[in-house]
Amino acid sequence: MFLLFAVLCPLFLSAKAILQCPDNVTYTSLHACDPEAFNPCADGYLCRPAVAYGNDTTSTDSTTEFNSTDDSLVLTSHICCSSGNMSVSQYFMESGVSPVAVPVTPVGMLESVIIRDSTNNFAIAVDTIGGDFEPSDSNTGPFTTLEAVAFQYAPAAGSYLHFLVAVDPLLIPSALYFHYNYPSFGNPVYNLTDVNDRYQRGYAAVIGNGSVLEEDLYTSNYVILVFRTLTPLRNATQISVDLNQSSGDLANFLSATNTGGEIESPLLGTLFKVRTGATMFTVSNETVTTTPHNNAISVNAGCYSSLVIIISCSFVLKILARFSKNMEMKSCPLTGALS
Ligand SMILES: *[C@@H]1O[C@H](CO)[C@@H](O)[C@H](O)[C@H]1NC(C)=O
Ligand SMILES: *[C@@H]1O[C@H](CO)[C@@H](O)[C@H](O)[C@H]1NC(C)=O
Ligand SMILES: *[C@@H]1O[C@H](CO)[C@@H](O)[C@H](O)[C@H]1NC(C)=O
Ligand SMILES: *[C@@H]1O[C@H](CO)[C@@H](O)[C@H](O)[C@H]1NC(C)=O
Ligand SMILES: *[C@@H]1O[C@H](CO)[C@@H](O)[C@H](O)[C@H]1NC(C)=O
Ligand SMILES: *[C@@H]1O[C@H](CO)[C@@H](O)[C@H](O)[C@H]1NC(C)=O
Ligand SMILES: *[C@@H]1O[C@H](CO)[C@@H](O)[C@H](O)[C@H]1NC(C)=O
Ligand SMILES: *[C@@H]1O[C@H](CO)[C@@H](O)[C@H](O)[C@H]1NC(C)=O
Ligand SMILES: *[C@@H]1O[C@H](CO)[C@@H](O)[C@H](O)[C@H]1NC(C)=O
Repeated sequence: MFLLFAVLCPLFLSAKAILQCPDNVTYTSLHACDPEAFNPCADGYLCRPAVAYGNDTTSTDSTTEFNSTDDSLVLTSHICCSSGNMSVSQYFMESGVSPVAVPVTPVGMLESVIIRDSTNNFAIAVDTIGGDFEPSDSNTGPFTTLEAVAFQYAPAAGSYLHFLVAVDPLLIPSALYFHYNYPSFGNPVYNLTDVNDRYQRGYAAVIGNGSVLEEDLYTSNYVILVFRTLTPLRNATQISVDLNQSSGDLANFLSATNTGGEIESPLLGTLFKVRTGATMFTVSNETVTTTPHNNAISVNAGCYSSLVIIISCSFVLKILARFSKNMEMKSCPLTGALS
């Protein structure tokens, strides 16, 4: 499987083509960037998937020529593109989180979130969607307690808000922390910790079974979503059962459980990375095989979503590398999707 991708990705772009940023926005250079690297682009730019446009071998514009015989360029067709006008939907689609883990992208952004480290109470404020944070003290984390958020659009008062924090939603193991039934006051800022003491609300969490390989620094991909319902969620047992059954799989929780059906699609959301010396997942020094709960969803969606495969081969390779460490691969009808 892993090899199949490695072989097919370069083949697919095996002709000179013009690289273009999403929406044809400006870029700093045509040199490939690594989307997994720590902030690889200048301020105002993000390492985004560039589309290889057409099969133009007669192009006279040599500055936009993409030399496909150079493997490093072919395999990582991400370049540093302007992020100035990105929509929340673009952040979710380009990172691969949507449509695989979050089928319907949020309507608006969370402008900032504060999450707290549950072991030593250290807090970080994340005020950039798509950001990548490494707290100066790497002996912090894991960050699991959502303390406060600022909304791009304040949800209407008189309803109920549900906050879902997902960690590594495209990987196994993954984790979900669900804070639900928070009354909406119609304010642009919401302090969950403050409300915790004053209103009846719910909380449930699940950390996926399985382990990650021991590392000095763990990169956790966070996705935070806010949902709104007119009435509170009433069955706490059902919520726990649904979370448990999802084993931390966000796609499964949103698409295949009663609770997912009740909260429907997210109103607001953000995503970012945090690099810390601690992780919420079980750490192992060797490859551990676990029984995946629902890997078919993410792996197969990857297969059929050929656009995502073409534009983010390196990202897919990284996921597959982690999958293959932890479980047996389900075969993927890739050749069909690409023919
Ligand atoms: C993309 O932008 C470049 C430079 O601004 C321009 O020359 C080109 O025509 C644009 N392409 C499309 C398809 O809009
Ligand atoms: C691109 O064009 C070249 C020559 O025009 C052709 O040999 C090649 O097969 C084409 N590649 C694709 C992927 O269409
Ligand atoms: C593309 O790469 C090939 C082989 O590395 C090289 O011979 C050729 O000159 C390159 N073309 C451009 C436009 O850089
Ligand atoms: C964002 O879009 C506006 C309107 O189309 C444009 O004027 C502005 O230059 C864009 N900003 C960036 C950073 O691309
Ligand atoms: C949220 O509320 C708690 C408890 O009132 C307070 O300690 C904390 O500073 C508040 N956080 C923010 C970001 O306002
Ligand atoms: C709550 O959910 C549990 C688990 O699905 C179910 O057994 C129970 O009947 C539900 N309770 C109510 C009041 O619907
Ligand atoms: C969910 O799983 C946890 C840990 O495995 C267990 O303690 C809890 O009882 C389970 N909850 C439900 C509702 O099944
Ligand atoms: C993993 O750690 C255990 C206990 O610390 C040790 O016995 C074992 O040899 C280690 N395995 C590898 C592959 O390093
Ligand atoms: C976690 O996975 C291991 C190994 O597959 C299994 O033995 C164990 O029962 C699982 N634990 C839970 C809570 O599912």
